[in-house]
This record gives sequence, structure tokens and C-alpha cells, in this order.
Amino acid sequence: MKNFEFKNPTKIIFGEGQISKMANEIPKEANILLLYGGGSIKKNGIYAQVKTALKDYTIEEFGGIPTNPEFAVLEKALQVIKTKNITFLLAVGGGSVIDGTKFLSSAALYKGEDPWAILQNKIPTQKGMPFGTVLTLPATGSEMNSGAVITRAETKQKLTMGGPGLFPVFSILDPNVVSSIPERQIANGLADAFTHVLEQYMTYPVGALLQDRIAESIFQTLIEIAPTILKDQSDYKTASNFMWCCTMALNGLIQKGVPTDWAIHMMGHELTALYGIDHARTLAILTGSHYTYNIETKKEKLAQYAERVWGVTEGTIDEKAAVGIAKTVGFFHSIGIKTKLSEYTKDFNGTATEIAKRLKDRGMTAIGEHGKLTPVDVEKIVTMAY
Ligand code: NZQ
Ligand code: ZN
Repeated sequence: MKNFEFKNPTKIIFGEGQISKMANEIPKEANILLLYGGGSIKKNGIYAQVKTALKDYTIEEFGGIPTNPEFAVLEKALQVIKTKNITFLLAVGGGSVIDGTKFLSSAALYKGEDPWAILQNKIPTQKGMPFGTVLTLPATGSEMNSGAVITRAETKQKLTMGGPGLFPVFSILDPNVVSSIPERQIANGLADAFTHVLEQYMTYPVGALLQDRIAESIFQTLIEIAPTILKDQSDYKTASNFMWCCTMALNGLIQKGVPTDWAIHMMGHELTALYGIDHARTLAILTGSHYTYNIETKKEKLAQYAERVWGVTEGTIDEKAAVGIAKTVGFFHSIGIKTKLSEYTKDFNGTATEIAKRLKDRGMTAIGEHGKLTPVDVEKIVTMAY
């Protein structure tokens, strides 16, 4: 096992009816900015619950944060923070609203002129404006980690940011919110969480027995609940397992002491930036190709995964590894997610070259768990995903 340090300060408040407890977590004198997305919270009753919980506070609101949170929209929210003397941010939404709020948390205290520099120059956020979240869509894990991904449509960029100052102070996880989520977003949540675990597991063995088994248990739980949650979003028992899996998949725990990959996410963000394909679906497009291309360096973990997660007992390590890849692609198909780029856009010629160039321009010339994948490899992997 590798050396590691682990600190996750986010307080999780999990369960039915817990939104009502929010006032215990926010300073009484806080000037709150409530941030939300396209309005789903007004239809499903979450907005009303939040307003009731915060009836004794001064609250400003900012709605309209789109999926793949957009810099130009967030700049407007930043003006509200400055002109209304906001001191506490409250994100009510999925990964996009939470990530947008993280950007604002950082930008609100940023001393430089143009807050885009936080993303462009990869400036880590040591201290941000405090914020809490009410998660409405299990998927990204953003509710319990310190990372965010922000889009700039003008330049077709989608860049990451983070830092120890960007953990939510608290996150409320009420599984009842799952009941109003459309099937497409449920499938996205399953695929995103599954791939988060893959990115931190499908590397090479380092004798981290516990991390491996925690990761495998998240895979197994997601596989077990997928058919039920897709059929019946209001099944509380399944929704609560779905929600906690998604949080556990990316709250930092399973990546401690092990190598991590993240190449699928790096390439995937470019597919969203170029074509607007849902984040989770970009991952499903690339996973099979990435693992097939890198089977030699990943085969031991692929074989272990095939055995322990999918119950594959027959065959050599190479054969089991190949079955592990096929099972993964099959899982995406089983939840209704297509896995070829050409099934999402007809305009894919040249995509691989473009993505390789974009990563190279940003200095990402040695990615993957071994730091050995070059732009030439990226071009081949993306081409295999056509
Ligand atoms: O905007 P509203 O009206 O709220 O509707 C949203 C949106 O249309 C809807 N929705 C959310 N909760 C709902 C609901 N509809 C009905 N009932 C509910 N309870 O779902 C749609 C998608 O929401 P969004 O927040 O965009 O989805 P997701 O949570 O998948 O977030 C995607 C973003 O997170 C980033 C992605 O790149 C993408 O930008 N990620 C963030 C990560 C992180 N911070 O750690 C890691 C991930 O790998 C990912 O990159
Ligand atoms: Zn993801």
C-alpha cells in the first residue's frame, strides 16, 4: 500500500426528512445565496422544504445553473455574491449546481482580476466561502469531495479545479429526492459512480486489500440495485443504497493508498466540451477502448474484478481480463447507455486528433496510472471508441 493522508471534513446528514435540520448547520447571522439549476426543485417540492427549513434566515436566490455549469452564468452569480454581501452559499441540485457553487466559493475570495484563472492556471483553493449542499441527484460525489468541473461554452473548454478549501461544510442526502429523477439521469448516475470506482481500482495491484474490497462492494451494490432503481425511482430502500454508493464512489476514501488512473475522465470531459454529450455517457463511450488498449498493464486488476465482481471462474488471466471488459460494456448497455461515439454524433471525424491536441496543449502528455499515455495513445484510444 502507498503512503497517504486522508481528511474529509464534510458532515453528511443522511435520510428521510433531514432537509428540515439544515438550520442547525448554518450560522444564524449568515447571508445566504441559494443556488439551483433549471427548476426541477420547484416541481418536486425540494425548494419548498429548503425554504421552510431556512425561514428565519436572509436568503437571496440564483437559479438557472445549467448542466455542465457555465462560466458566463456563474459570473452573474458572483456579482450577486458581491453586491448582496453574501457570506454562505447553499447548493440545491446535482453535480452541476454543486460544482458551480464550488467555483463561486473559490471566486468569492479570489484576489486576482479574472476568476477564470483559477481553472486556466490550476490554482488550488486553500480557502473558499463556506457552503453546504442539498443533493438532488446521486452521481458525481461532488457533495463529499473538493473537486469541480466548469465549462466555458465560448471556447468549448471544460476544466477541473479543486483544493482543500472546497469541501462542503455539510451535505444533506435525503433518498426521497430520487423519486423525481428522470430515467436518463438515473442511468447517468449509475454509470458515473461505476466509472469513478473503475478509475480508482482498474490499475495494478499494490496489496491494498481493503481498498480493493471496498471498491468491489460498490461495484456489486451498483450492479445489484441498477434494475430496480431504473424501474422504480421511488423505492426508498434502493434509492438510499444508490445514493450512498455514489457518494462513497468519489469521496476520496477508496483512492487512498492506491494508484489512480482518471484518463477516461480526462478524455471524456473533452467529448462533453466538443459535443455536449452527458458526462456519464462520455465515460461509457471510452471505458471499453481504454481498457482494451491498456489490457497488458491492467490485466491483473481486470481479472480480479472479473472474478470477484462478475463471478468469472474459468480461463487464464488474459481471458478473464477480456471478460471483465466485456462485462463492463455489457453493464452500460443493460442500463440503456450506448458505448460508441458514432451512436451520439455523426460528426466524429477528427475527434481523436482534436482531443489528443487539446490534452497536449494543456500539458497532459503523460496520463494514466503509470504516467505513460501520450497524445499518440490518446488518439488511438479515442479512435477505437468511434
Ligand atoms: O437543473 P435542474 O432543473 O435541477 O435539473 C437537473 C438536470 O437537468 C436534473 N435533476 C437533478 N436532480 C433532479 C433532477 N430532475 C428531477 N428530480 C431531481 N431530484 O438532472 C439534470 C442533470 O443534473 P446535473 O447536476 O447536471 O447532473 P450530474 O449530477 O450528473 O452532474 C454533472 C456535472 O458534474 C461534473 C460533470 O462533469 C458535469 O459537469 N462532475 C463532477 C464531479 C465532481 N465534482 O466530483 C465528478 C464527476 O466525474 C463529474 O465530472
Ligand atoms: Zn465522473
